[in-house]
Amino acid sequence: MNTTLLRTESIEGHLLIISDDSNLEWADHYLDPGQITVLATGIRNEVREFIFPGSDRFVCILVLKDEKDETYAREDARIDAADLLEKINGYKLKEIGVVNHSEVNRTYEVLEGLLLGNYKFLKHFSNKDKKRNSLEKVSVHSGSMSEADVSKLNTVVSATCTARDFVNEPHSHMNAVTFSEAVKALGEQYEGLEVEVYDKQQIIDLGMGGLLSVNLGSVLPPTFNIMEWMPENAKNKKPIILVGKGVMFDTGGVSLKPTANSMDYMKCDMAGSAAVVGIMKAVADAKLPLNIVGLVGATDNRPGQDAYVPGDVITTMSGITVEVLNTDAEGRMTLADSLHYAKKYDPELVLDFATLTGSAARAIGPDGICYMGNADSKIKHALEVSGRKVYERLVEFPMWREYGDAIKSDIADIKNLGGPYAGMITAGKFLEHFTDYPWLHFDIAGPSYLHKKSGYRTKEGTGVGVRLIFDFLENYS
Ligand code: BES
Ligand code: MN
Ligand code: ZN
Repeated sequence: MNTTLLRTESIEGHLLIISDDSNLEWADHYLDPGQITVLATGIRNEVREFIFPGSDRFVCILVLKDEKDETYAREDARIDAADLLEKINGYKLKEIGVVNHSEVNRTYEVLEGLLLGNYKFLKHFSNKDKKRNSLEKVSVHSGSMSEADVSKLNTVVSATCTARDFVNEPHSHMNAVTFSEAVKALGEQYEGLEVEVYDKQQIIDLGMGGLLSVNLGSVLPPTFNIMEWMPENAKNKKPIILVGKGVMFDTGGVSLKPTANSMDYMKCDMAGSAAVVGIMKAVADAKLPLNIVGLVGATDNRPGQDAYVPGDVITTMSGITVEVLNTDAEGRMTLADSLHYAKKYDPELVLDFATLTGSAARAIGPDGICYMGNADSKIKHALEVSGRKVYERLVEFPMWREYGDAIKSDIADIKNLGGPYAGMITAGKFLEHFTDYPWLHFDIAGPSYLHKKSGYRTKEGTGVGVRLIFDFLENYS
């Protein structure tokens, strides 16, 4: 469900005023008796509310917090807007106009909070109208936000919501094959976004032993998905490659996960691929002048009768052999082949996104992304700046050689299980074997899926990675 955002010369009807002045004497001229006014103060969770009886116009004032830190201040604006959204929907408003009245202009973030917060995944309700939020349309005053910013926000919000839709869709409605169909449909929608899907036989012919081994326990075939955006005006000759973990459902395989609080939400195990799809959509929508390729090996991980079992040795596409000691460490098996496949593009930079380890989620929780890799420090810096700006913050983890010792095997080149410590890093060290280019790995197991809503991050899929990487790519040269 997407909320329409328009830029207009004049605002009529219900109104949201963004202010940095809690005094509010200036507000008098906006307020006629007979209006509903909700006053959102700068103190979170203390929304003061004034209701004038018999009113037909709703005016709310979002007073920005007095927060000196730029990163927190932007995020406060998004979160406070999402809090206010509950009031707006509570009063069953359909449309609202937004005007900036603050010296520091946070209109972009306020709208981002409103639009992302207004997302709902309604597909599987029989009565959608009953469940829908009332707010359908937001108009922003032309003096408060540029045309370019409105367009960027529309692009980014829509792509983030697409990524959320992909994650939220349960495995009953999204397996490797239906995922590929959805990606192809996106390719149809955007001219210049070329989508190619390899089927099981082509994956066998390519020798993708990692992806195929995970797929053995499933009755459904795997797919390998290639999305290419190669515009004529591209500034980079060698492409940037985005790789996504596309485990459509992770039961753990024979090393079965317990259901409660562990397997029951594992439809989220393709959040990395959802991020890649979302980023590709945003890139095509904004027509970014960059060569960018998205790669996703897709399968579910099941304990069917032919499933791979602990102790098995698998030959990946690269020729590197892997001793499988836990079939639940399947993400790295599939990514091994995608990362190897990326070599054929002679890439400038490869970024992979994966809900790879519980260890990453336990280390920093849902509030940030664990990342690691050998790319240039300038690239890392740019990504960290984007991370703070969009509030998908990055924490770099070390890839010291000692961590590589944990995945040495006695009977194969490497094993898919590390030791008791630093699981997110030993997983990263595993992936490193399949790279020979500038590369960064993003373990999004923590922030990609929420068990309860948090501000503008709605429950379940968050679409994490889309806003981060779009911002990075937009500034890339
Ligand atoms: N998909 C899981 C990781 C995960 C955990 C994602 C929590 C989202 C939330 C992954 O395939 C997995 O099972 N990892 C194992 C690896 C272990 C067996 C080495 C883990 O982290 O426990
Ligand atoms: Mn697993
Ligand atoms: Zn997994």
